[in-house]
Amino acid sequence: MRIVVNELHHTYPAGVEALRGISLVIEAGEQVAMVGQNGAGKTTLVKHFNGLLQPTQGSVHIGDWDTREHAVSQLAARVGYVFQNPDEQLFTKNVHDEVAFGPRNLGYSPERIERLVEDALALTELTDKKETNPYDLSSTWRKMVALASIISMDTPVVIFDEPTTGQDAANIARIANVVRVLRERGKTVITITHDIDFCAENFERIIALAQGRVLLDGPANDVLAEDELLATTYVDPPQLTRLGKRLGLPVTVRDEEQFLAAYREFIGTEK
Ligand SMILES: Nc1ncnc2c1ncn2[C@@H]1O[C@H](COP(=O)(O)OP(=O)(O)O)[C@@H](O)[C@H]1O
Ligand SMILES: [Mg+2]
Repeated sequence: MRIVVNELHHTYPAGVEALRGISLVIEAGEQVAMVGQNGAGKTTLVKHFNGLLQPTQGSVHIGDWDTREHAVSQLAARVGYVFQNPDEQLFTKNVHDEVAFGPRNLGYSPERIERLVEDALALTELTDKKETNPYDLSSTWRKMVALASIISMDTPVVIFDEPTTGQDAANIARIANVVRVLRERGKTVITITHDIDFCAENFERIIALAQGRVLLDGPANDVLAEDELLATTYVDPPQLTRLGKRLGLPVTVRDEEQFLAAYREFIGTEK
């Protein structure tokens, strides 16, 4: 499902101009990471995708729907949004009901709901915790419940707002696996993140926002090559990317495989 953002502006009632003319297209099945300093407008932008916020000016289309013409409850069938703070999202007494709430609300059949819930619990490694009260879980597992309760809605578009913040390495790996599986299923995944390694390792496209505008938008390697522009929105490319640049590698690299391939070629051509 294609997302088209056209000249989007958003000013909060208090007068803060959070978005100042954003235009971009995200194709069906794309995985996009969104970066940029605190207050750049990332959360404000994605809250327009499921109708939590409406444009002050400009428009957002989700497939053939103009978000101004559809209620949040309708958009929920197309766009799933995982809040940065799971506590804003969780409210039932056990994990199973939490994860079943979304698909129930969408009016799916009991069989389909059970299938979606089992699948979402398995994907987030929560199957053995389904009878547990989310508030008896660690914040790490509560995060996974928040992910599961959106994945179970089987929407074509899934948004994660800062999924790795405050998570340990094991949970970051679990979240990366969720992103990978959703990619294989053809879902559009949009992830806001401060974790530049997570971003570089899992996303082919990066959008950098600064002060309510798009600063950079393109293939991950090209965006990460723009270290000086990225610095203006307080984003540092991964350490390997910076090291590759200092070594004088002819291409921008963003993971170990790319680094080694470029380095071997570089050494070879030096001889
Ligand atoms: N509910 C709100 N009311 C007023 N201003 C807000 C609200 N939410 C965010 N803002 C402001 O809008 C700007 C963009 O915020 P936000 O979209 O949360 O940025 P990011 O997610 O990139 O950190 C900031 O200046 C922020 O203070
Ligand atoms: Mg935010």
